[in-house]
Amino acid sequence: MRLFLAIPPEPGFRAALEALQEHLRAQGVRGSYTRPENLHLTLAFIGEFGSPDAVMDALCPLEPEPFGLTLSGVGLFPEVLWAGLAPSPELERLVRQLRRLLAEKRIPYDRKRFVPHITLVRRPVGLERAALPTVPPAEMRVRRVALLSSVRGRSGMIYTELAHIPVPGRETAPPGSGML
Ligand code: 2AM
Repeated sequence: MRLFLAIPPEPGFRAALEALQEHLRAQGVRGSYTRPENLHLTLAFIGEFGSPDAVMDALCPLEPEPFGLTLSGVGLFPEVLWAGLAPSPELERLVRQLRRLLAEKRIPYDRKRFVPHITLVRRPVGLERAALPTVPPAEMRVRRVALLSSVRGRSGMIYTELAHIPVPGRETAPPGSGML
């Protein structure tokens, strides 16, 4: 089973990413657009690995700090046009911690340097003629780190959330207040 760990965007944040994609389409940029439901921020790509349970067990000691994500600019890797995120020490610490926990349990993952990005379009064509979009202001509170499986479907990749680790919010409700 092909596995990876990622942060799924909250609805408003996803809408901002879709708006970016719409702008690119309107500018005539062609390519393989990530379907809205597939947009995500990859934290660690595990690849073929038989036991999602072993991954979740390895991540038991993970203690994510409360944090948020802010959309910031677009960038280009060879073959990938992506939305970037404002620098976040909490995100960097989370990725370091979860990768260390995977390594301790000898769970393989892609050790490429972490460059926070959300893929918008693979193999973009026509960028030279396009005005790059102004990135809409968008922020989200991170609520979970998800373990996802990836399967190639007939019309693209199908990502399925298998499990998740909750990320706490900044405010903690007083005990017994009944607040969620
Ligand atoms: P991306 O983060 O640049 O979009 C599932 O394949 C996700 O894991 C994709 O989002 C993909 O790229 C990311 N990923 C990171 N390293 C990968 C690798 N070595 N092979 C495939 N996907 C990888």
